[in-house]
Parts: sequence; structure tokens; C-alpha cells
Amino acid sequence: MDLPNKKQQLFDRWAPFYDFLFPSVFYQATHKRLLEYVELPQFPNVLDIGCGTGRLLDRLATKYPNLQGTGLDFSAEMLRQARRANRHRPRLIFVQGRAAPLRFADEQFDAVFNTLSFLHYSEPEQVFAEIHRVLRPGGTFYLVDPTTVRPTGIWHVPVSPEGIRLYGAKVREQMSTQAGFRCLKHQYLLGPNLLTIFTKILPKVEPFEKNVNRYEA
Ligand SMILES: C[S@@+](CC[C@H](N)C(=O)[O-])C[C@H]1O[C@@H](n2cnc3c(N)ncnc32)[C@H](O)[C@@H]1O
Repeated sequence: MDLPNKKQQLFDRWAPFYDFLFPSVFYQATHKRLLEYVELPQFPNVLDIGCGTGRLLDRLATKYPNLQGTGLDFSAEMLRQARRANRHRPRLIFVQGRAAPLRFADEQFDAVFNTLSFLHYSEPEQVFAEIHRVLRPGGTFYLVDPTTVRPTGIWHVPVSPEGIRLYGAKVREQMSTQAGFRCLKHQYLLGPNLLTIFTKILPKVEPFEKNVNRYEA
């Protein structure tokens, strides 16, 4: 990884206290609600992008005894906390990296999770494309983030280095469709935290006649 940018430094400083500060109560209640909507195959291989201290993966690994999980985060200090608290070794591992590009093989995961992290990304379309690449066809992407009241809006809030961006429900749908997903559901979990569930659809195959014509021309 390159030298930590300002946002990374902010999360590095936050990490040792993250689980003990008030927002974490809210985040963990959000995780709990999220689990009500999660459906996984019998031996799921999942990725949590922006995993922070690993609390969501801990919850998932407890509920699904056959689950293998990878937590990815760009903050070395968040990962330190996640590894220290890891009760599910070797089923859960934590690796350092950015949300895009992802350092995983194509079609490796059954599900990808992203909670309260997407708002920090400067390249949201690239993140959607990368999640699409690493999911198997039919795999599921669970996105949980605060949203805006206007479904078609993107709200840029100038807090934290580089600010944060909150995406309306329709904007999430548009970004996901461009990347090759179908949006299955929007569901408010807690306050402004909106869960959106996407499924990876197969790449569109052109009809046979169309291909024949192209090659004849
Ligand atoms: C508010 S915390 C949420 C952590 C966890 N997902 C949760 O629900 O508690 C946001 C996390 O996203 C990580 N993050 C932000 N931008 C990132 C990026 N571009 N690539 C990887 N991780 C990122 C931060 O380091 C931080 O751990």
C-alpha cells in the first residue's frame, strides 16, 4: 500500500476507540438488523469491504458455522483491532487494501458486504465494478450506508478529509445496473441507514442472428 492518505490516518486514529464510542452502538445495532435480511449458501465464502474492527464478520461467522470470511480495510489500525478480536480463526482473515481495485480473483465470493464505508469512496463506480468482478454469477452484494431523502440525489457533505457522499436509492440502482447488477430490495435498517441488496446477473449475450450478421458484413 502507498503511504496512508488523510482519510486512512483518520481511521487509524479512530481504530483503538472505535468499538467503545457511541457511533459503534448504532453501527452494531445496524449489523444486527442487517442479518435479518441476509441469505447465504451452505458453505459461503464472503468478503466484507471496509470491515473496520471486524464486528460484522464476527456476527456472520457466529450465525453461519461453515462461513469463510475475508475482511478488507485500508486502515492498518482497524485491521490490528480486527485481528486481535478474531474468535473465528482460521475461518476469518483480515487483509489490508483499498475498495478498488480489489486484490481478489474473479468470481471468488458468494456474497460481498459493505457497511458504513461506501460514503467514503472517491471512485464509487469502480468499486461497484470490482465487486461485480469478484462475485460469482448470482452472488449477492449487501450495501448499507446512510442515504439522502431525495432518491435521485447525491449529497456531498464536507466533513472528514475529502468529505463523504450519500447516495439516494435510485442513484444506487443506476450505478449497480451499469456494473451488471440487478437491484433486489431497499430496506431502512436504522435511522438513515439504508440496506440495498443487489444480485450479479450474467453478462448480456447478444442474440445469435446478430452475431452472424456482424461476421458476414
Ligand atoms: C465507519 S467505518 C465502518 C466499519 C465497519 N464496516 C462497520 O460497519 O462498523 C468505515 C471503514 O471503512 C474503511 N474505509 C474507508 N475508505 C476505504 C477505502 N477506500 N478502502 C478500504 N477501506 C476503506 C475505514 O478504514 C473504516 O474502517
